[in-house]
Amino acid sequence: MTEDTPRTDSAVSNSVRKGNPLLEVNDLQVHFMLEEGTVRAVDGVSFDMPAGRVLGVVGESGCGKSVLARSIMRIVRPPGEVVGGEIIYHRPSRNGGSPDVIDLNQLPLNGPEIREIRGSEITLVFQEPMVSFSPVHTIAQQIIEGILLHQDVNKAEARNRAIEMLRRVGIPNPEVRIDEYPFNLSGGMRQRCMIAMALSGNPNMLIADEPTTALDVTTQAQILELMSELQQEYGMAMMLITHNLGVVAQMAEEVIVMYLGKIVEHTDVRTLFKEPKHPYTQELLKSIPRLRRQRQTDRLTAIAGSVPSPYVRPKGCPFHPRCPKFMPGVCDELEPQLTEVGGRHMVSCLLYSEDAKKVSSGAGNG
Ligand SMILES: Nc1ncnc2c1ncn2[C@@H]1O[C@H](COP(=O)(O)OP(=O)(O)OP(=O)(O)O)[C@@H](O)[C@H]1O
Ligand SMILES: [Mg+2]
Repeated sequence: MTEDTPRTDSAVSNSVRKGNPLLEVNDLQVHFMLEEGTVRAVDGVSFDMPAGRVLGVVGESGCGKSVLARSIMRIVRPPGEVVGGEIIYHRPSRNGGSPDVIDLNQLPLNGPEIREIRGSEITLVFQEPMVSFSPVHTIAQQIIEGILLHQDVNKAEARNRAIEMLRRVGIPNPEVRIDEYPFNLSGGMRQRCMIAMALSGNPNMLIADEPTTALDVTTQAQILELMSELQQEYGMAMMLITHNLGVVAQMAEEVIVMYLGKIVEHTDVRTLFKEPKHPYTQELLKSIPRLRRQRQTDRLTAIAGSVPSPYVRPKGCPFHPRCPKFMPGVCDELEPQLTEVGGRHMVSCLLYSEDAKKVSSGAGNG
C-alpha cells in the first residue's frame, strides 16, 4: 500500500470483526407491479453478509440478482417496490465502539442517512459503467465529487486521492487520464474507473453486479484479480454477482444460488462445488466449462427448459418443471423452505424435507 492509499485503518476491523455479520437480510421481498401481473423479483430472501468476506451470488438471468443488489442500496425504482423484510446493517463505529444497528429498509428513501451510507459505506459497481458515469462530466469531476461529499478533505486532497485510486486500479498516467470524459476511455478502462470511484469512499461493502461481463476475457481476468487484491487489502466485504460459476470458484468464499427470486442453496464455495445439494445447483455446475486439461470438443450441458415467465410462478417448488429429480405430487404441491442440511449449508429442496418424505410415502401407499 502506498502512503496516499486510503483506509490504512480499517473501520470494519475496529468494530465489526471479519466474519461477523455486516448485513443481515431477513425475508426481503421486492415486487414489480406491472399491468401483466406482479413479478416477485426478490421473494423472501434471507442471508447474512459477513464482514470482510466475498459472497458470490449466482443464478440464471432474471432470477433477481440485480434487484437484490439495488434493494440493498435502496435504489429500486417504480414499478418496483420493497414490500417487506429487513436489511440490518451493523454500521461500524468510527471510534472503535459497538456498531450501530440500522434497518436500511426503515430509512427514508433519499434521506441524508441512506445517501451517506450508499455513497461511501456500501457501494455498487454495475455491469455497464456508461450507465453510472455521467457522459458530460470528466472522470475527475465525478470521482472527486464523491470524495468531497463523504470525506473531510479539501479539493486538492480529494484530487490526489482520486489520482491515487486510479493508479491503484491500473490506469496508466492517471494525472492526465483523470481529466478525460468517460467516452474517451476503453470499456476496460471505464470499468477500472468505476471500481476506483466505488472504492474511493473506503466502503465497508462493495456490491459488484456482473462487473466484467461486458469485457473481453483478458481484461475480465485482470479486473477480477484487481478486485480480489483490493478486497483483501482493504478488508471490505464484497457481494459478487455473476452468471459465471468459474468466477465464483476463483473469488468467493460463500455462495448464494438464486432461482426465481429465491435462494435455493447457500453454503461455502468448497462445499458448493464438491457437494451441491440442490438439483438446480447441480445442473448449473454441469453447465460450466472445466478449466484444466479438458478437450476443446467437450460439450457443456444446458439446463433443460427455460426460466418460467415471471408472471406465472409454478406451484410448489419453482424449479420443479425443469428438475431432473422432480417428485410428482410433492414438488408440484409443497413449497420448499430454506433449511440447514449440514453445518452452514442451507438448501431449499423437498428431497431433503421430512414433510415431503411423509407425503411421498403416503402417495405410494395410496
Ligand atoms: N424495471 C423493471 N420493470 C419490470 N420488471 C423488472 C424490472 N427490473 C427487473 N424486473 C424483473 O425482476 C426480475 C429480476 O430481475 P433482475 O434484473 O434482478 O435479474 P438478474 O438476476 O439480475 O438477471 P441478469 O442475470 O440478466 O442480470 C426479472 O423477472 C425482471 O424481469
Ligand atoms: Mg442483473
